[in-house]
Amino acid sequence: YDYDLLVVGSANADLVIGVERRPAAGETVLGSDLAVHPGGKGANQAVAAARLGARTALLARIGDDAYGRLLLDSQRAAGVDTVGVLVGGAPTGIALITVDPSGDNSIVVSPGANGRLTPEDVRAAAGLFHASRVVSAQLEIPLETVVEVVRSLAPGSRFVLNPSPPRPLPAEVLAACDPLIVNEHEAKVILGAVDGGSAVGDRPEDWARVLLAKGPKSVVVTLGSQGALVASAEGVERVAAVRVDAVDTTGAGDSFTAALAWKLGAGSSLAEAAAYAARVGAVAVTRRGAQESFPTAAEVEGR
Ligand code: RIB
Ligand code: NA
Repeated sequence: YDYDLLVVGSANADLVIGVERRPAAGETVLGSDLAVHPGGKGANQAVAAARLGARTALLARIGDDAYGRLLLDSQRAAGVDTVGVLVGGAPTGIALITVDPSGDNSIVVSPGANGRLTPEDVRAAAGLFHASRVVSAQLEIPLETVVEVVRSLAPGSRFVLNPSPPRPLPAEVLAACDPLIVNEHEAKVILGAVDGGSAVGDRPEDWARVLLAKGPKSVVVTLGSQGALVASAEGVERVAAVRVDAVDTTGAGDSFTAALAWKLGAGSSLAEAAAYAARVGAVAVTRRGAQESFPTAAEVEGR
C-alpha cells in the first residue's frame, strides 16, 4: 500500500469565538476576538494521522477561495497527499464554533463545497482506494457519497466510520464499518433512540452490543471522561480515560478516530489502538484549535 490511511470527508474553515456562555434564542452575547483555524472532520483526521507519521491522503472538496487555500496549506504542511483534494463547485465549508470556559464547543457547519463531493468524485479516485490500507469517513459529506466509499473499498482494506453529525445509516454502510466509532449522542441517533425512538437504556455496554448487532464488524463507543468501550465478536472491553485539563475539545474526536485507524492498519488490536487514540485525543484537548492541537508520535510518547 502507498497510504496507511485515506480520509474521505470534509474540510472547513473554523471561525471560533470564545464565550462565557452560549446565547439563548433571541439573545446576544459578546465573545472573544475571532480566530480562524483550518478544520473540518475529514481534514482534521488527515492532519492528525499524518502528524503521527501515517502516510495519508485526503479526498475532499474545497472552494476556489482563501479558506480553501488555508486548508490546502495546512494539509501540505502536515505532509498529507492532497492529490485527491478537488477544488470548486461552491465556497469552502465553514464551521461557526463557540468554545466555553470548560473547553466544550458548539458547532454549526455550512457544508459548501463538502456538499458537492459526489459519488462520481469517489469513483474517479479509484486509484487512491486501491493504494490505501485503511479508509476513514465522517458524515459532513453527502450520505450517498459515503455509500460509494464503501462500494469502492479495495479487497483487504479496512473501513472506519465516525458518523458525525449522526443520522440513521443504511445497512450497507453499517456492515462495512470496522469499527463504527460513536460518542453517546451518535450512538443514540444510530440506534434510533432519540426523539421517542426505541429504548436501549442507559448502559453504554448495551449500546455497544446493540450497535454491533446492526452489522458493523466492531464498534467503539467513546465516553469522554469515562474512557471508551470497544466491542467485537470477542466481547466488550473498557479502555481507560486519560485525565487532562481541557482548554478546547474541538477536533479531539477526529484525532482519536485518525489515530485508531492508523494503529489498526499497523496491526494493533482494537483495545490497543483505542488506548493509543485516547492518549492522542488527550493531548489535543489541552491545546487550542483543531489541527494545530494534534500531537506528533513523540509528543504522545512523552506523556
Ligand atoms: O470535529 C471538529 C470539526 O467539526 C471542526 O473542525 C469543524 O470544522 C467541524 O467540522
Ligand atoms: Na484542541
